[in-house]
Amino acid sequence: MNRKKCPLAGAKPGMKLASSIIKEHGQVILAEGTVLTATFIEKLKLINMESVDIVEDAGAEAPAPLSSVETFAAVYDDTLQVIENCFSTMRYFKEVPLIQMKELVDTSINLMTDATGVFSYLQVIRKQDDYTFRHSLNVAVISGILGKWVGLAGEELKDLIFAGLLHDIGKTQIPLEVLNKPAKLTQEEMNIMKGHPLEGYKMLLGEPGTNKDILYGVLQHHEKIDGTGYPWGINGEQIHPFAKIIAIADIYDAMTSDRVYHLKQTPFEVIAEIKQETFGKLDPAICVTFLRNILDYFIGTKVLLSDGEEAEIIYQGHNTYPTVYTRDGRFIDLQINRDISIVSLI
Ligand SMILES: [Fe+2]
Repeated sequence: MNRKKCPLAGAKPGMKLASSIIKEHGQVILAEGTVLTATFIEKLKLINMESVDIVEDAGAEAPAPLSSVETFAAVYDDTLQVIENCFSTMRYFKEVPLIQMKELVDTSINLMTDATGVFSYLQVIRKQDDYTFRHSLNVAVISGILGKWVGLAGEELKDLIFAGLLHDIGKTQIPLEVLNKPAKLTQEEMNIMKGHPLEGYKMLLGEPGTNKDILYGVLQHHEKIDGTGYPWGINGEQIHPFAKIIAIADIYDAMTSDRVYHLKQTPFEVIAEIKQETFGKLDPAICVTFLRNILDYFIGTKVLLSDGEEAEIIYQGHNTYPTVYTRDGRFIDLQINRDISIVSLI
């Protein structure tokens, strides 16, 4: 890899960092391999960076894949920071920073959807704070992966990721005391919450850089194919495919997250629940694609079992629960041995 020092004044979006930018106390600000965006460059100016090491001809070279949880987490945290700023702008200035958010889709989020270990990484780096921002980022990433699994590519796939990132922006118009209320919502508060898809749609309507697909992905992400969703209660054929994909990503991420009112579930518990309870409300073809691929995805993953043993997932088949191989050399089919379960990913 050829590297050169570039004065920050000459740094341009699209250039790739040849070495990580690290604060004095060791915190990685931007990881090696990060593709610079205008926002990142602005931030580096704010902390008085004078120059950065960049990969020569980075514009022609594909960004380095995120092949470890550390590189993934570094890009994830930077992206999350930008999303948090964007959400603040929307809440307090009533303005959608669409260019900045689209830039995230084209650079870091797109890169995250290509990371081989992405579902495990998302699980390992989960935290309880900043839920709305994390959820928006996770739904964008998971929608992108599911979009690829159903055959989307190119600009259409990027639009889907963008819609995933924007799906809950209507929540920025909900009073914080309702949005963050730890107790059960009143009927009136519930109605306010349920207004967020329409609010998000209105915020995006007519904005440059959006289109019908993105708008419908946002507006319809809580609709259900049996007509029991909101805001309109429309049924299967009337729901846009983007909204159907985002709905699955939304449910998967919400259920695997640690929230004030429920503890996070392992992906396997969530998969079982999606299979048993939510089937019929989600698009069956997209749901089958999601379940089949995500089950295969976890083969080779190390897990902790409820009997305290560490094991590796070695076979999934069409089962909800996999077969594992324990460190002490036992094969356990968790579909049959239901008294043992997976407690967490390692
Ligand atoms: Fe939502």
